[in-house]
Amino acid sequence: MLRRRYLIRDEKGRVVETPERMLQRVARAMAGAEEISGGSAEARIWEKRFLSALSQGLFLPNSPTLMNAGRPLGQLSACFVLPVEDSLEGIFETVKQAAIIHKTGGGTGFDFSGLRPAGDQVASTGGISSGPVSFMQVFDTATEAIKQGGVRRGANMGILHVSHPDIELFIRAKTELDLFSNFNLSVMVTDEFMQKVRADRDWDLINPRNGSRVRKLKARGLFELMVESAHGAGEPGLVFFDALNRGNPTPALGRFNATNPCGEQPLLPYESCNLASLVLPRFVKGKQINYPALEEAAGLVVRFLDNALEVNRFPLPQVKKATRLTRKVGLGVMGFADLLIALNIPYESSRAAQVAQKVMKAINSAAREMSRDLARQRGSFPAFAKSVFPAQGETRMRNATVTTLAPTGALSLLMGCSAGIEPLFALSHKRRMLDDQLVNEVNPAFKARLAELGLDTLQNQKALAQSGLAASIAGLPFKDREVFKSAHEITAQGHMAIQRAFQLYTDNAVSKTVNLPARAPVKEVWQVFEQAHAMGLKGITVFRHGSRGRQVLELASLP
Ligand code: CDP
Repeated sequence: MLRRRYLIRDEKGRVVETPERMLQRVARAMAGAEEISGGSAEARIWEKRFLSALSQGLFLPNSPTLMNAGRPLGQLSACFVLPVEDSLEGIFETVKQAAIIHKTGGGTGFDFSGLRPAGDQVASTGGISSGPVSFMQVFDTATEAIKQGGVRRGANMGILHVSHPDIELFIRAKTELDLFSNFNLSVMVTDEFMQKVRADRDWDLINPRNGSRVRKLKARGLFELMVESAHGAGEPGLVFFDALNRGNPTPALGRFNATNPCGEQPLLPYESCNLASLVLPRFVKGKQINYPALEEAAGLVVRFLDNALEVNRFPLPQVKKATRLTRKVGLGVMGFADLLIALNIPYESSRAAQVAQKVMKAINSAAREMSRDLARQRGSFPAFAKSVFPAQGETRMRNATVTTLAPTGALSLLMGCSAGIEPLFALSHKRRMLDDQLVNEVNPAFKARLAELGLDTLQNQKALAQSGLAASIAGLPFKDREVFKSAHEITAQGHMAIQRAFQLYTDNAVSKTVNLPARAPVKEVWQVFEQAHAMGLKGITVFRHGSRGRQVLELASLP
């Protein structure tokens, strides 16, 4: 994957960079920002520190930084949100901006709720409007054509407010009409809507052009549509407007109406954000977490990310302006499931949730501490005085946010660890590679444990390849079966408990999929959505196994 997607190639397409050189390039580019305040001697010191942490595999920055740092493109961010204006000029301007961002490896999120509904009047022509779902197809097609320079598929998040008149069409668009292969879809749901669902009341659909009520319908009917669609094909997800905005550090600058493509990063229009993830299993010493090392690394990476804001070549002037105003960065983790296995703790257990909280609290505090230190040297983010921080007793802060939990889809593969905070998908599975080849993978910790127990027999290997489950190994001790449970054996509540534990100490949001077995009934999705809201999560995504024809990870048999 490094060779195919990340390392530099010459004009003939031959790879001309080693992995070590790539890390040097990244470390040097980020240390470059230190020259401004500390001169070149200081820059060299930080280059060494960044390189050392990268070489030890303690963290990775988001993919665009690995691909573009120290290179002519120089665009370092994975996450963007662009505004969409209710005019033809505005819409196509945003299409163009998204294309520019995709070209550099960034992903874009959009709130389409400001667009007048399908069939509404257009004053300038006397005609009727096509509506958001129709215009989203233009974005989808443009994305398809760009494919992020051939190395990464363009990713979009399309969001529509639950009160938009076209909401039903939006919910159905992906699953029933098979549209939007380059989009994730989420409905922006409010507390008020959830109350009306609970009380079985009516819900108004409002034309955003003039605020008039177009129609009313049963809140539960609309909710059921989301539930059924998510049960059928994993879309849409929900984002909870009020929870997102309770966590908004700069409400005076605007409210969050959209997130980046995978939902973990709420942003204001034109903001971008750089993410990085600590590799949790690298911080285990003996059977314990080395907290001092974890905190030190968290501080170092926040410095790295703040430097990225200095040396970043922003793809649009509006993005530069909005991003530099709040200086958001998003430090997170990958390999949480591997960490638990190393500590011999089952994913679905109160101890796991405690570890999650403790780890994330330590990271968040160390990250804030570094942000305060940086503010002392470099100044607070320009919108600090208008932010929530002064009221919380803070006198300075370099970054409006410091933590985000990314999916780390490609990054976790590069690091050979479990993705983000997800449980193991399976102990053995086939992975669909870029070229469509299916490659068999067995979890190395499980293989080692089987060998230790004298259970790594040919027969067991076959059973494992068939089922992907620890439970298929005859004679495996109960504790090991618990510790090595995979995503589909963990209840929805078990998934959400971990999401919540991390969210408690994460400034931005958490990328998490609640996996459901193929046989999960529709009403389970209903319950999960309601519980997610009641728990104060910022969003929720479910994926019922086998509900999409083709997926990146495949089990030999359906659970
Ligand atoms: O691929 P990698 O592991 O670097 O990224 P990720 O942690 O899975 O995704 C983080 C963010 O990168 C997503 O939420 C998107 O904003 C962006 N992304 C993208 O734009 N295009 C992709 N193909 C994958 C991720």
